[in-house]
Amino acid sequence: MALSKNNPTTQKSWKSLEKIYEQENGLKILDYLKNEPNRVERFSISLNDFYVDFSKNRISEKALNYLIDLCNETDLKKNINKYFNGEEINETEKRAVLHTALRSNKATKINEEVQNNLKKIEILSNEINNGKRLGYSGKKIENIVNIGIGGSHLGPEMVTEALSQYNLGIKPYFISNIDADYIDDLLKRINPESTIFIIVSKTFNTIETLENAKKIKSWFIENICEEAIPNHFIAISNNIEGPKDFGIYSKNILSIPEWVGGRFSLWGSVGLIISICIGYKNFEKFLSGARDMDEHFRESPFKKNIPVILALISIWYNNFFKCETEAVIPYNQFLSKLPDYLQQASMESNGKSIDRDGNKINYETGSIIWGSTGTNAQHAFFQLMHQGTKLIPADFIAFVEPLNDNHEQHKILNANFLAQINALLVGSNKSGNDIHKNIEGNKPSNSILINKLTPHNLGSLIAMYESKIFAIGSILNIYSFDQWGVELGKSIARGILEGKEDHLDTSTKDIAKRLNNRK
Ligand code: F6P
Repeated sequence: MALSKNNPTTQKSWKSLEKIYEQENGLKILDYLKNEPNRVERFSISLNDFYVDFSKNRISEKALNYLIDLCNETDLKKNINKYFNGEEINETEKRAVLHTALRSNKATKINEEVQNNLKKIEILSNEINNGKRLGYSGKKIENIVNIGIGGSHLGPEMVTEALSQYNLGIKPYFISNIDADYIDDLLKRINPESTIFIIVSKTFNTIETLENAKKIKSWFIENICEEAIPNHFIAISNNIEGPKDFGIYSKNILSIPEWVGGRFSLWGSVGLIISICIGYKNFEKFLSGARDMDEHFRESPFKKNIPVILALISIWYNNFFKCETEAVIPYNQFLSKLPDYLQQASMESNGKSIDRDGNKINYETGSIIWGSTGTNAQHAFFQLMHQGTKLIPADFIAFVEPLNDNHEQHKILNANFLAQINALLVGSNKSGNDIHKNIEGNKPSNSILINKLTPHNLGSLIAMYESKIFAIGSILNIYSFDQWGVELGKSIARGILEGKEDHLDTSTKDIAKRLNNRK
């Protein structure tokens, strides 16, 4: 069964939200903190190693209650069940959306397939790490190169970097962009005899990935030999024939099920590089962290449901305050790629303007997601967050404990995190000659406090954002799991490469001519 189709703006709660926004949009968060009894307690949620404080938002408890009504009026609970039960909720592509099944341990038919795939990941990871699976010439594998783009790249790259402290010794590399100069440079630095190449592409017809894979295969054959390919090339795809035609040995092909969307695929075979790098045991912990967050999302009442609350806050700022962007600021350098990863997960999912009934939408859907690590971000764009004309809601992610024994430095890092969430809220009241030092404050933030950056907690963090994305899409009545906007550009590029430039607009045609003349 498909997701319910309810226009959020025609719901009773939406009208109440419009009214309450008019009455309260000038109010101060500090006043809410002062006047709403136990606001911090009521506006915070604990789950395992997570503590989420959302009290520093420009939202009263009354408004939050209307947002909860909006969840009910748009059938969020029913939709969550359809999502987890594998109903065909991606209607425009006629597919279920079941990446959550990749980390589930419920005994279902699908789970058998998931377990079989996980077994393959486990065997490969163990054999590579313990030196049982060697290169063609008998050398131990030292490098893994992931060739893929979008969902076949961003997740694996973000997670291998985030968990690099858990790496068992194999060095990960990533090739995504079709930039031959970059690839040449990388190939100079690795020895093919001790390197495994993983070609990741759900469709196995993405131009960038296939061209990059072809280039690397030729280089490999030139430097070693064709017979060595089975020892060094693995493919991960939903299109089994594609990798075979490319010359990949069928035992070295792992599948991506149809019901796994690219941007949510890192939990299964696409996560092979993660499992090799951190070891299968840690990969299992990573999956169990996501599983715990899924359970929380499925079972908790909306008012104490972390992903639902984050989704509602996002809808509130986007639709009522008209904030166009949301920043993600992890106070952890290993999470430097998290904003990029969330950009795809969120913007490719909820950047839609037709609702599930096929109508043009007249409200706001996906926000622009961006960010960078604290404290770097403080020295880059925080000035605008403090004193600019734009209101930027932000998620601050901080860790109670460091990974190693660096407690003193960790204290400095976290002092900065605390200083920023406080400064954004309180500001600094100045006038007269000091007017340029006046900082209004009243700038919102969510604090996501996590005990430690472990595989389990990272799994929970990613699943938290995935569920937030689902909840936003469900409430806003859009299809979050297709990406037709991206498909258009892909097909035009294919046409251009086949010499079909006639149908381009006059400006683009002119630019194409200039590029062609340069050759
Ligand atoms: O960017 C669009 C997209 O379709 C993503 O959703 C996907 O992750 C990526 O392209 C790569 O596609 P594939 O895995 O099929 O090569």
